[in-house]
Amino acid sequence: MGSDIFEKCFNFDVVGDLKMKGFYPYFHKIESVQGPEVIVDGEKKVVVCSNNYLGLANHPKVVEASIAAIKKYGTSCTGSRFLNGTNDLHEKVEKKFARFIGKEEAILFTTGHHSNLGALSSLVGKNEVLITDKLDHASIIDGCRLSFGEMVRFRHNDMLDLERQIIRYKGRGMLIVVDGIFSMEGDIANLPEILRLAKKYAARVFVDEAHSLGVLGENGRGTEEYFNMEDDIDVLMATASKSLASIGGFIASKAEVINYIRHNARTMIFTASLPPACVGAIDMTLDLLATEPERRVRLVETSEKMRSAFKSMGYDTGHSQSPIIPLVVGSDLVAFKMWKMLFDEGIFASPVVTPAVQEGRSIIRTSYMATHSDDNLNFILERFEKVGKQLNVLT
Ligand SMILES: Cc1ncc(COP(=O)(O)O)c(C=O)c1O
Repeated sequence: MGSDIFEKCFNFDVVGDLKMKGFYPYFHKIESVQGPEVIVDGEKKVVVCSNNYLGLANHPKVVEASIAAIKKYGTSCTGSRFLNGTNDLHEKVEKKFARFIGKEEAILFTTGHHSNLGALSSLVGKNEVLITDKLDHASIIDGCRLSFGEMVRFRHNDMLDLERQIIRYKGRGMLIVVDGIFSMEGDIANLPEILRLAKKYAARVFVDEAHSLGVLGENGRGTEEYFNMEDDIDVLMATASKSLASIGGFIASKAEVINYIRHNARTMIFTASLPPACVGAIDMTLDLLATEPERRVRLVETSEKMRSAFKSMGYDTGHSQSPIIPLVVGSDLVAFKMWKMLFDEGIFASPVVTPAVQEGRSIIRTSYMATHSDDNLNFILERFEKVGKQLNVLT
């Protein structure tokens, strides 16, 4: 007789243990909109773990656009983009996004995760190579797993190691895949050097702009704009689930590449399309990026203020350069404990523990919104200083 596949479920005691200690940080219920303050489990908390960077998730114009889309198109498209699930609103936002980002064409998937899965697995085939940063997002890794290509990793943002890996596979079709802003570290990919190496060795470059869209660059166009480059990234991916205050994912590139992905990505063909309410919201948030640039300016100022305040308090903020500011606190247990102490102090934060981080470098991942008030920010700093001192994590 073989063993029971449920055995691992019956023996899975990590969660029970954390719950018993009162440190379980996951799946807490938010009972309000995703603003800088939320009601969690019945209590008001200041949020430092949202990706609602520009604070657009409850903007009246976005809410209105979403409702208008439901009224016109209903609640669901009830099918795949490939067959009955494409409407004129999908095509409108694809064109709007491509124009905004400066690429020939774009295609809209149902989630950002689906975009990475579909684009990477359809673009990279047998005998071709995906060269990925060790700290790329999980959806990139999943996309590589779904591809028939070979996946290799280079040390995080280490350009010497990247070149070393490229040389090993010289002569084969290569796609270098990186996050624009890394989702846990908050640092920025060394795009100029990646592009230089790609050109030298005839590789293509894919950048995941999930956290950089709306955040980096004069107009929020992301990493390319931040480095003053133009249309140099071969394939650009972005989610609508963060600055665009909705859900969905874009892939943008040359028209031929998008046409290929459109007809080959399994996550385009074998899943239902993004519902009208979400597409309507994206349609409006793309406009607001241009008409309310003060949000991005405020976000950048806030992030700089918070990073420098945390540093002077004695927190290790790693290499953060963006609204994502990780605070390194030590072991997983310290991170869970700290999460709970912050929660009790009125802060809703995210602990990130092994294997997502190196052993002994667990973090409280903090991230900021344009709509955090000065009072919110001062409250956050005060509470982090108090709890940091109590746990002895400040240097
Ligand atoms: C870097 C990165 N890429 C892709 C995704 C997936 O996007 P989505 O949540 O919109 O599916 C995320 C989401 O957390 C992310 O952080």
